[in-house]
Amino acid sequence: MTPDVCALSNERSLQRAPASLSLSKSVRLALAKDQDPGAAVERAGGVIDPLGYLDIRPESSVDEAMSRTRSSSGTVAMGRYEASGVEAEFESGSRRRVLRNHLGIRRARDMEVAESRALRVAQLAFIERFGPEHRFTARNLCDMHKVWLGSIYEWAGRYRTVDIGKGGFQFAHAGRIPDLMTELERGALHRHTPCIAGDDEQVALALAETHAELMLIHPFRDGNGRLGRLLATLMALQAGLPVLDFRPMYGKGADAYIAGIHAALSGNYRLMQAVFAMVIAAARRRDRPRV
Ligand SMILES: Nc1ncnc2c1ncn2[C@@H]1O[C@H](COP(=O)(O)OP(=O)(O)O)[C@@H](O)[C@H]1O
Ligand SMILES: [Mg+2]
Repeated sequence: MTPDVCALSNERSLQRAPASLSLSKSVRLALAKDQDPGAAVERAGGVIDPLGYLDIRPESSVDEAMSRTRSSSGTVAMGRYEASGVEAEFESGSRRRVLRNHLGIRRARDMEVAESRALRVAQLAFIERFGPEHRFTARNLCDMHKVWLGSIYEWAGRYRTVDIGKGGFQFAHAGRIPDLMTELERGALHRHTPCIAGDDEQVALALAETHAELMLIHPFRDGNGRLGRLLATLMALQAGLPVLDFRPMYGKGADAYIAGIHAALSGNYRLMQAVFAMVIAAARRRDRPRV
């Protein structure tokens, strides 16, 4: 445990958000009025990856994963990739832009839409499933990934078996993922969930550590960023905060967000905490009643 995290656990008020406050006001109102809570989540800025923001960095994540693997593993890399099964194959006719999928989708844009729609549905299911007392496990994260992407990809919910990186940064070696996820469960997930109400700085640090550690592991072939933001949203709701607004992580904010992931490698969560403080502040602004 880093000193920061020790301090956090000691300082935090042990008061948990009452169940009735666990959902943001707008989502609760929509549920009460039997309106479409999905639309309410969206209005509240809670869309984890609104269309057009699907990747923090516009890049062909698939191609980059391929080239990284190739360069990191030398001459037989392509063979390794092929040997790793369905997760490394592309949909035929997609010009290596779309991973092989159950829906026969070949255009990247169509896949963005399909993944986004599925995420919206999954998010609502999880808001209802995981209440303010829930302690998240590695298994929960696999289930969430499976519920979200299971109708699209064969490998949904299963840890990746290929090494991948982004922007020159290599995520955890695939062989270490099961152990690292167990460590995450015993570490950040155990300490920070259920996420306890506190001042925004404290909650931001809890979200930051959990998110950054999950991003460093990058357990799944794709969808890690959105899954991590979904978990952060659920944790924020546990702490009585509104549905999060992740726009500070996009556009001009992307550099700080990515730097926050890199800093977490050496146990420094302060940069990521600052990013989550902005995410929480943006959520509060959006949740404020309009007069
Ligand atoms: N250069 C980078 N270094 C470290 N992490 C990165 C970098 N670029 C992107 N990321 C992280 O990886 C996530 C994207 O991973 P990915 O599995 O493709 O998720 P998604 O499909 O949901 O975007 C980003 O949201 C961010 O958290
Ligand atoms: Mg991706």
